[in-house]
Amino acid sequence: MPGTFITFEGIDGSGKSTQLRLLNNFLRVNGWNPLVTREPGGTPVGLRLRAALLDATEEVDPLTELLVFAADRAQHVRRVIRPALAAGQVVISDRYADATIAYQGGGRGFPPELISEIVQLATEGLKPDLTLLFDVSIEESTHRTTRRSTGKNSANKAGRDRLDIEDAAFHTRVREAYLVIASAEPERVKIVDASGPLEQTHERVKDVVVSFLRSRM
Ligand code: TYD
Repeated sequence: MPGTFITFEGIDGSGKSTQLRLLNNFLRVNGWNPLVTREPGGTPVGLRLRAALLDATEEVDPLTELLVFAADRAQHVRRVIRPALAAGQVVISDRYADATIAYQGGGRGFPPELISEIVQLATEGLKPDLTLLFDVSIEESTHRTTRRSTGKNSANKAGRDRLDIEDAAFHTRVREAYLVIASAEPERVKIVDASGPLEQTHERVKDVVVSFLRSRM
């Protein structure tokens, strides 16, 4: 089987990281052995960039933010994703270039031409074969991210990061930008309704991913 590149996307609080954990367990039990990675922070230098990017106490200029996400991605593509794909692996990344289009393009308002130039530079044109877009309302996502930072389990969570604390208008623009990508590329991007119970979403994720992987065997 050729290497397969799958990405998970969605607004903060969409539940994609939980779904990725569940899918990873399922795929491992069934012998697929995917390489699961994430952005920002899929490499050692990327982890340092991630800490700088998400620190809620630091004021980061939007242009700096755009370029550091791109730097993180360049390292990730060249050192992790491409080598794994070349070895025939299934690579699943928690966020990738669509996040820059949605957050820095939609959210921050950088022009689409600049965003696509920077994405092209950082990715060297590498696109996912399949993207799952976890879609949930802004109300539900805010509820989830707030609960995450104030709930009983918050002691072992990092709390809300610099992008989580942006206002509802920002997250609405991010969500809309994601939906625009999905409607422009329906073959690649599958929208997963993430508003229901965890287990229900997991069933849908398994269906989409397993049938896609089987189609490539
Ligand atoms: P993520 O790891 O999904 O956050 P969490 O671990 O809290 O679920 O992503 C971190 C944040 O970075 C998230 O708010 C989205 C943002 N982001 C961008 O703004 N642009 C990008 O290109 C990427 C990859 C992430």
